[in-house]
Amino acid sequence: MSFKKQDIYKALETITAPGEGKSLIENENVTNVVSFGNEVIVDVTISNPSLQAKKKVEVEIMKAIHEHVDQKIDVKVNVKVEVQQKENPNQIRGKEIPNIQNIIAIASGKGGVGKSTITSNMAVSLAKMGFKVGVLDADVYGPSQHLMFDVEREKPLAVNVNGRSKMKPIESYGVKLLSLGFFTDPSQAVIWRGPMASKALNQLIFDADWGELDFLLIDLPPGTGDVHLSIVQAVPINGAVVVSTPQNIALADAKKGVAMFKQESINVPVLGIVENMAYFTPAELPNNKYYIFGEGGAKNLAEDIETSFLGEIPLVQSIREAGDVGHPVALQENTPLADAFTEVTKEMVSQLLKRNANLPPTEVVRITTMSGCSTK
Ligand SMILES: Nc1ncnc2c1ncn2[C@@H]1O[C@H](COP(=O)(O)OP(=O)(O)OP(=O)(O)O)[C@@H](O)[C@H]1O
Ligand SMILES: [Mg+2]
Repeated sequence: MSFKKQDIYKALETITAPGEGKSLIENENVTNVVSFGNEVIVDVTISNPSLQAKKKVEVEIMKAIHEHVDQKIDVKVNVKVEVQQKENPNQIRGKEIPNIQNIIAIASGKGGVGKSTITSNMAVSLAKMGFKVGVLDADVYGPSQHLMFDVEREKPLAVNVNGRSKMKPIESYGVKLLSLGFFTDPSQAVIWRGPMASKALNQLIFDADWGELDFLLIDLPPGTGDVHLSIVQAVPINGAVVVSTPQNIALADAKKGVAMFKQESINVPVLGIVENMAYFTPAELPNNKYYIFGEGGAKNLAEDIETSFLGEIPLVQSIREAGDVGHPVALQENTPLADAFTEVTKEMVSQLLKRNANLPPTEVVRITTMSGCSTK
């Protein structure tokens, strides 16, 4: 087999450096290329520390060399991560919180369609897949994640991180959790206005000791009003998941939810729609599906508005019971229900990977400083 090192460099020129718009060569990501016989070793340095980014660059390099030089070359890629602190006048989301890779918002237009249930089960599914996961309950009207994770009596403590006092999330089932519910008195109605809610949430993101997270899932309040706009504008969200039930009224509200994320001042990619309570399955007849609210509604909506369909979750009594006792069904091993949540979660991750590969990081709409504000 004969090829020149130059051919390898040419092949690497066809790969775009992640988030840069330049090639790996032009962006000086490739630090060395060594070849002997039919083996090529490529050393590459990237700034994105996520496992996905490393894997992606590795696969792309192999593909490019096989495609442009020779199928039979044995390619080895050494990926080094060096987080660059680039001065960027247009601050980019994600860079603001370098230890949190992906912030995903779970939203719906209509209330009670199962956002919180999807959030808790998706978090558990992600944790089971080996990801580091956090959940932020941003439901200003009625936080529920502290109940769904069975930690309603816990109070997050303050810890000292590099001389700064930070809130330590409560951990349950391998998921780190902060909820507005930890800071509000359940017997008192708290009326949050937009700016106050977004300040409190900023504090829960930026002044908390989340550690390293692959995913932070944010359980949003229902609706698409002012308070939602403030929240989604204030938090650097990478992608949104919209939950709907099959009824027309929920679908119409889900459409509004998708439109909210797509509007110019928000511009958050919608990763897809999940249909919850898609069909009813009685415990004693697990193979029977009854489409009591109609069939295929969310899938059709997703097609209509050119959004992905992430899958369906049945209406099952045990999902409600599990939520009530604070033990999400996704914790079960190899049951059809746990599998349904795994499938939806996998689809979300795959849409996110596509989004991360195709789009630059979402720009920050507005980041507010949090000093001196209270969540009470
Ligand atoms: N697939 C399901 N099968 C059975 N019960 C479900 C299912 N999904 C959600 N539920 C139940 O429906 C109720 C509402 O769900 P959940 O609280 O997750 O909705 P939500 O969209 O977060 O509501 P809100 O808008 O009030 O925040 C809960 O009691 C929950 O346990
Ligand atoms: Mg909820």
